[in-house]
Amino acid sequence: MKKLFVKTYGCQMNAYDSAKMADLLAPLGYAATDAPDGADMMILNTCHIREKAAEKVYSELGRLRRLKREKSDMLIAVAGCVAQAEGAEIVARAPVVDMVVGPQSYHRLPEMIARAARRQGHALETDFPALEKFDALPAPGGGGVSRFLTVQEGCDKFCTFCVVPYTRGSELSRAPEAVLREARQLVDTGARELVLLGQNVNAYDGGGWSLAKLCDALAEIEGLERIRYTTSHPRDMADDLVAAHGGNPKLMPYLHLPVQSGSDAVLEAMNRQHKADDYRRLVDRIRAARPDIAMTSDFIVGFPGESDADFEATLRLVRDIGYATAFSFKYSKRPGTPASTMRKQVAEEVKTARLEALQKLLAAQQHGFDDGQIGKVLPVLFEKPGQQPGQVMGRTPYLQPVHVLGDAGLIGAVATVRIEKRTANSLHGVLA
Ligand code: SAH
Ligand code: SF4
Ligand code: F3S
Repeated sequence: MKKLFVKTYGCQMNAYDSAKMADLLAPLGYAATDAPDGADMMILNTCHIREKAAEKVYSELGRLRRLKREKSDMLIAVAGCVAQAEGAEIVARAPVVDMVVGPQSYHRLPEMIARAARRQGHALETDFPALEKFDALPAPGGGGVSRFLTVQEGCDKFCTFCVVPYTRGSELSRAPEAVLREARQLVDTGARELVLLGQNVNAYDGGGWSLAKLCDALAEIEGLERIRYTTSHPRDMADDLVAAHGGNPKLMPYLHLPVQSGSDAVLEAMNRQHKADDYRRLVDRIRAARPDIAMTSDFIVGFPGESDADFEATLRLVRDIGYATAFSFKYSKRPGTPASTMRKQVAEEVKTARLEALQKLLAAQQHGFDDGQIGKVLPVLFEKPGQQPGQVMGRTPYLQPVHVLGDAGLIGAVATVRIEKRTANSLHGVLA
């Protein structure tokens, strides 16, 4: 057996793609390992979303150059969104790289490996051959109670700060039959929860099937307990999907619905194509369908032109909505995006101060939400052994991690738990 080490950066879709690449290379005799030392093949599955994410790749490649000196036949591939965005430039900057493969072309890895092994120079695949890759991929390998399933890929929204439309191409949905087939395979190999993935997952359109309809069909699969989906765009939150949160019992009460900013001027400059009040009204409708739903979001602070008043509007929106948790980032200039050349870029110190203020508010909301579960009896899906011996770790419907004393036999099952306390980022309870 040859050893394959895959290092994953970025979003859940990259995690899904990494698993697919490992499945794809298994028939070639590659077994996945969790350390780079001694690996015969190394894949860096990269992220281009912010400058820091992209720079990490080059520092990792610097380290790999030394490893390759000791093991000269080791193959190094750069996959993912940096591969797509920078293509041949990667090899120019880091000649240690043998292969560069974009997120839509990794089904071609086996032939690229064959070419690289024959030392026919560097291989580069960054075409967008639409959904071809999904047909070329083998059935998923086993493992894991909660698993990702990509149903939609790409983005046509062109928010002015974002590289995703350039790295992942335009919005495409997989056929419902293909999704249902993969879902059944995942459930057959132990999945009890599926997280449907897409850069704009709620824009899913499988030949007339909406995401709500897809979730209804998935809910019919016996053995599947829970369905989640991410990431959604506020503009694609259709009425039937809002209604599904009240009507589909397997659809979990948790929704990641990024808003980015609470200021109409900033939302406009970002090309989000909705106003802050549209988002407030949408959340009201979602909560009317499912009152206990946990709302989460992404925020960007320091977008070009963001004033103190704009930032205050973001804090106001956060207070109005009340989030269970959220991610927040300083705006990062991305080459080739419209916002990167906007005048009135915000000073670094201002970004730092705003991020701190926002994160303080979001952390308080998260703790409030978690504390609100204390004393409740909730269904928990157990995923893996806990940190302490004799513990098992699972998740509430709201995605909060919970640790309880219990048998490893609980893994893969839903059991009711009385929540007793909260620590920094998780809940603790007893089987009820
Ligand atoms: N499709 C999703 C987001 C994908 S990127 C959506 O529309 O919301 C994940 C998050 O990274 C974004 O929600 C945004 O908050 C953040 N992000 C994207 N580009 C960024 C940039 N240039 N600087 C800082 N954060 C960024
Ligand atoms: Fe990026 Fe906007 Fe598309 Fe989300 S919707 S992936 S933020 S361009
Ligand atoms: Fe990063 Fe690409 Fe995902 S840029 S966030 S890995 S879609």
